[in-house]
Amino acid sequence: MSDTGPGEAHDTIDALLDEQRTFPPADDFVEQALVAGTFLYDEARQDDEGFWARQAADLVDWSQEWDTILDWQLPYANWFGGGTLNVAHNCLDRHVEAGKGDKVAFHWEGEPGDTRTITYRDLLDEVSQFANVLKGLGVEQGDRVNIYLPMIPEAAVAMLACARIGAPHSVVFGGFSSQSLADRINDAEAKVLITADGGYRRGEVFPLKPAADEACDASPTIDHVVVVKRGGNDVTMVEDRDHWYHELMDGASTDCPAEPMDAEHLLFLLYTSGTTGKPKGIMHTTGGYLTHATFTHRYVFDLHPDTDVFWCTADVGWITGHSYIVYGPLSNGCTQVMYEGVPNHPGNDRFWELVEKYGVTIFYTAPTAIRTFMKWGADEPAKHDLSSLRVLGTVGEPINPEAWMWYHEHIGGGRCPIVDTWWQTETGGIMISPLPGATTTKPGSATFPLPGISAEVVDDAGESVDVGGGYLTLTRPWPGMLRGIWGDPERYEETYWSRFPGRYFAGDGAKLDEDGYLWLLGRVDDVMNVSGHRISTTEVESALVSHPAVAEAAVVGATDATTGQAVIAYVILRGGEEVDGEALRAHVAAEIGAIAKPKQVYITPELPKTRSGKIMRRLLRDVAEGRNIGDTTTLADSSMFAELQAKAAAATED
Ligand code: WTA
Repeated sequence: MSDTGPGEAHDTIDALLDEQRTFPPADDFVEQALVAGTFLYDEARQDDEGFWARQAADLVDWSQEWDTILDWQLPYANWFGGGTLNVAHNCLDRHVEAGKGDKVAFHWEGEPGDTRTITYRDLLDEVSQFANVLKGLGVEQGDRVNIYLPMIPEAAVAMLACARIGAPHSVVFGGFSSQSLADRINDAEAKVLITADGGYRRGEVFPLKPAADEACDASPTIDHVVVVKRGGNDVTMVEDRDHWYHELMDGASTDCPAEPMDAEHLLFLLYTSGTTGKPKGIMHTTGGYLTHATFTHRYVFDLHPDTDVFWCTADVGWITGHSYIVYGPLSNGCTQVMYEGVPNHPGNDRFWELVEKYGVTIFYTAPTAIRTFMKWGADEPAKHDLSSLRVLGTVGEPINPEAWMWYHEHIGGGRCPIVDTWWQTETGGIMISPLPGATTTKPGSATFPLPGISAEVVDDAGESVDVGGGYLTLTRPWPGMLRGIWGDPERYEETYWSRFPGRYFAGDGAKLDEDGYLWLLGRVDDVMNVSGHRISTTEVESALVSHPAVAEAAVVGATDATTGQAVIAYVILRGGEEVDGEALRAHVAAEIGAIAKPKQVYITPELPKTRSGKIMRRLLRDVAEGRNIGDTTTLADSSMFAELQAKAAAATED
């Protein structure tokens, strides 16, 4: 490990150093681009607050204008204080009032091939009705509502209905287990849960309602459960508590005025893994968040709302779905594709079939998906006419130059700029990214902070780095920033603001090259990034240890060609117990969700620990990735290594 920066990232640095290819924006793209040249950057550099105020005024409808652009009491920001607005009005009413009621908001496609075409007027009506339904269930401004749904239009409807009446939502990804759902409901003390009977995945119905039921058994604050009928699977409805969505909607009024909310009113909580087991409820508020989501969606993707068809393949259960399926795109009034299922049902070309069918012009996905497409081969996209595409985006983890080039060539036909967008649940919206008409890209680099965003790479001592590796920090408040961790201000200050005083520390390593380009290098803490999803090692370890046969567990993320990182678990069994790896993998899936299932479980008699008793994950990662272990003198007992390495080598061979 080198001494200049975040440890595990160094292989990536070395590989990236060779990357010399550059891609300036093409002339015909520049001609039609919203931003060419440096004017936005120049304007923002002179006065970032004034810059954001202009974006807020230009892109968002306010019921009442703000008095103060920014009140910054580190680490607490108050953006657009005194201003009021309604997010649902911005996403729906204003477009209908402007005569765009018949414009398609969503081309929704179910995995089995059923479709729904939803106009802005349809969406406004359904959101208004559902807002009335929520009111009827006793939901008031400030009450939390949990959402646990498949990728169906009702997910967006539910979020916007909450926003319309000022009830913060907390969406939990449908792949999470009942225990994870219960933890999140309890932390937020939500009153109402919105779920579905089930949804489609890989050609089958996966049930959601049974998990929701289990979660409710452990969640005393839930008064009502609303159930959308999607899977058609059998469910048990609990009397007085459970209601069918379609029955409540039947006859609900479409008249529900969008009430103005304070700019700093809590819009939603979104839980994300941290280094200690308990997930963090990241708080996002109204005016700044909407400004940031709308601005970035428009300029990063060079959005022309009247002609573009935007498709973000994320699930609404993640921040990418919040900001770039629901709030950004709808606030910009554009047409989108929303797809329920997996990319390989019924064939490996499903995504490309959809791009062709709906004439998608802007496509936003994750590097893990791109690596999977590479594995399936270029023949799959080649079956379809992808000439409608004009901008491609990626998010969720570093994209290696090889995957970037493949995306560029086989999806973008060599003509589409690629925006590699770095951001986090906490940042609310994109922070570091090219602007496609203005930035010369390098494959694998997220390039530069957006106009209005200030980022710096610093060394261990917090000194700014001009060229080379270090820690990525953000030096100025931005409108979409998290406002805290729900119920835990100390953890907020400690997690994000204590490592480098006066700066937000994102937890990522980064490197600046000689041209000032930023290269993101992954997490420097113990959070794994599996298929673009952050999973905390501690949470998986806790799940493993909750199995009766397990005494102790250590989990690391090891580089994986497909998922970015794969979960590798080392487990010590309780004396006299026997269990196989498969049972433990299933146990983790049940406790946390399939996404956290270890790829490999090694049963071991010992774990490498420091003398003070801390598990040395770095060494385990070395073993998992097949590297020779160097100096182990700080180890309490190094004898188990030969055995672990032999096991890891055997697993790699099969
Ligand atoms: C990683 C997803 C490199 C990073 C929006 C970050 C990236 C974490 C990129 C946040 C990118 C996201 N290049 N790494 N373009 N985008 N990441 O909260 O480690 O699910 O801290 O938000 O994903 O993950 P989260």
